[in-house]
Amino acid sequence: MEENNESSSSFPIGQTAQERGFSHVPECYKAQYSDRARLDTELADVPLINLDGICNPSRREIIIEEIANACRCNGLFQVVNHGIPQSVLDGALSTASDFFNLPAQDKAKFMSNDVHNPVRYGTSLKDGVDKVQFWRIFLKQYAHPLQDWIVLWPDTPPDYRQKMGEYAVAMQKLAVKIMEAITESLGLGPTYLTSKLDDGMQVLVVNCYPPCPQPELSLGLPPHSDYSCLTIVLQDSPGLQILDFEDKTYKAVPAMQGVLQVHVGDHLEVLSNGKYKSVVHKVRLNSEKTRFSIVSLHSLGMDVKMEAAKELVDEDHPNGYRESSFRDFLNFISKNDIGEGSSFLNTLKI
Ligand code: OGA
Ligand code: NI
Repeated sequence: MEENNESSSSFPIGQTAQERGFSHVPECYKAQYSDRARLDTELADVPLINLDGICNPSRREIIIEEIANACRCNGLFQVVNHGIPQSVLDGALSTASDFFNLPAQDKAKFMSNDVHNPVRYGTSLKDGVDKVQFWRIFLKQYAHPLQDWIVLWPDTPPDYRQKMGEYAVAMQKLAVKIMEAITESLGLGPTYLTSKLDDGMQVLVVNCYPPCPQPELSLGLPPHSDYSCLTIVLQDSPGLQILDFEDKTYKAVPAMQGVLQVHVGDHLEVLSNGKYKSVVHKVRLNSEKTRFSIVSLHSLGMDVKMEAAKELVDEDHPNGYRESSFRDFLNFISKNDIGEGSSFLNTLKI
């Protein structure tokens, strides 16, 4: 029966192949050949930055140098000693898993393809709409300031709001702390963006990638860069792959306990006038176990435009980017198919 109709429209949210546990990959889930993920990919050499002592002036100088190098050469780094207890990370992952294990009716009220919804359960990118589908389930939720949004979040499992809320607050604080080091590394000073991020948006995406029977044919997410200034990723097992700046091949980002990945997003590339580059990444699947990741995207307010810092624009470095806001990004993805290669960043380049 499964074989009869395998076009995207046969897999609406709630009834996708990944939710139904298909034993084969339907035609509309097959990624373009050039995008497919190798399962035996070489490990990426991702800088591992120890944030311990970031408030101590001499240590801070070293950390800022390491962050500057990573933003310039890798578009991604990992952080340890970030100050977030392991129990907060584990609590968020375990309540995420409990949420996706709920019966369909508990999740149905969040199901939506409208990218403007502040809380939504979805599958793929835009399910049933985009040409190619992805083997992914997600819950996306606005998270900052927490008291404005938490009332809209799922209230089952019973500890969801408390555990995910604790995680969200910790990520927002960490993102500001890291962004302060980044703007300092750009010569803009540590508080250049602080109040704009405090008044900005945080989108928490909880991703669930069920086992895929033919992981070499499909993807969890297609190649993309994040629209954000900064993205902080927690992965419970490997699957994230990044495009190496040097040799332009995909490499696997290791998953280590207690370690968080920090991505340079499109809006940081814009702010830095191209000095730092956002990192292109995708998600590979596996046939054995469900993989979870929690992705925290940090940007300015919904309608606040990000532009290249005036201090980084001069005759030798003309402004390379148009200004844009988070809303501009949402409007872009509602009309474009990232799985087909559309890139928000490309629309910003002058
Ligand atoms: C994302 C993303 C990576 C992952 O949600 O934008 O890149 O490992 N996720 O799930
Ligand atoms: Ni991403």
